[in-house]
Amino acid sequence: MEQLDQQQTETLAAIADAATPDAVEAIRVAALGKQGWVSALLKSLGGMTPEQRTSEGPKIQGVREAVTAALASRKAVLESAVLEARLAAETVDLSLPAPEMPKGSIHPVAQVMDELAEIFADMGFAVASGPEIEDDWHNFTALNMPETHPARAMHDTFYFPDKDADGRSMLLRTHTSPVQIRTMLKEGAPLRIIAPGRVYRSDSDATHTPMFHQIEGLVIDKGIHLGHLKWTLETFLKAFFEREDIVLRLRPSYFPFTEPSVEVDVGYTLVGGKRVVGGSGDAADGGWMEVLGSGMVNRKVIEFGGLDPDEWQGFAFGTGVDRLAMLKYGLDDLRAFFDGDARWLGHYGFGALDVPTLSGGVGVRS
Ligand code: DAH
Repeated sequence: MEQLDQQQTETLAAIADAATPDAVEAIRVAALGKQGWVSALLKSLGGMTPEQRTSEGPKIQGVREAVTAALASRKAVLESAVLEARLAAETVDLSLPAPEMPKGSIHPVAQVMDELAEIFADMGFAVASGPEIEDDWHNFTALNMPETHPARAMHDTFYFPDKDADGRSMLLRTHTSPVQIRTMLKEGAPLRIIAPGRVYRSDSDATHTPMFHQIEGLVIDKGIHLGHLKWTLETFLKAFFEREDIVLRLRPSYFPFTEPSVEVDVGYTLVGGKRVVGGSGDAADGGWMEVLGSGMVNRKVIEFGGLDPDEWQGFAFGTGVDRLAMLKYGLDDLRAFFDGDARWLGHYGFGALDVPTLSGGVGVRS
């Protein structure tokens, strides 16, 4: 009997000393498991006389209950200590400030270039490009503006001081038209391309910046005529300004690289003193403004592009991207485009996810 008391005392002490839930479990197995000493005692009751059983039974049951209760309470204490430790280690500080809103926006010029690429892609035009540092031949000569041509003077060209290895004068391209030549020479015909990009002229005032953006268009195919040009420009301008009441006026003009050449005006309506594109320019509250230069590609230019002008014809057009952006989004200061003022960009810029699509609207602003 004493032995039983002692065993209980030792077991309860061991339980109180157990440092981990695993240690508690080991004691439980040693006492109450199948081979445990308490289980063995309980089994021994079967071999006792009824008298022995009456006297020993309650004691053995008492030991079992005492050990079971001690195990359960120690286990609970240790498990809550483990939980406390985990909670202390795995902190999530819910008082941290929320991440900042993403900064940056898409510049209106980039937005309009994306819109143009989307609109022309729908008409089967690919996007082509050429270098901003051009040679004299691609920028002028091959576009039918030879050495002495007066149109060269109109371009206020930035020349580089040195000629290139082949003795050509190098310059910052004054327009995107040299991409016409480069693309014909590289890809041949038929062709349907637009070429948006930066151009440079030594010119600076309220409405001119030394660097600005143009987009060039070129179609070369068989049997191309002025009707194709007019339809293409009308379809483009309707999609760009997102209105059906776009009215065009084609005026005869002169560009060395086109013959015949036409300047394209678009009708506008005065709304609260502002010119809004749309409606006939001949209406009482309307007027015309020039938006594009264009024409049928000059035979000489087709030849410079390495093609036979008796076989291939085409039309071309060019316009200012900055101006298109100003007209569409009602911006009135060209110089602000190049100031890099974050507040201006925050106000007039576009969200990076507002990708222009024809189905979603080419000029959505969120
Ligand atoms: N290159 C001309 C300029 O810079 C614009 C232009 C006019 C382009 C007529 C063309 C065109 O392709 O056909 O002013």
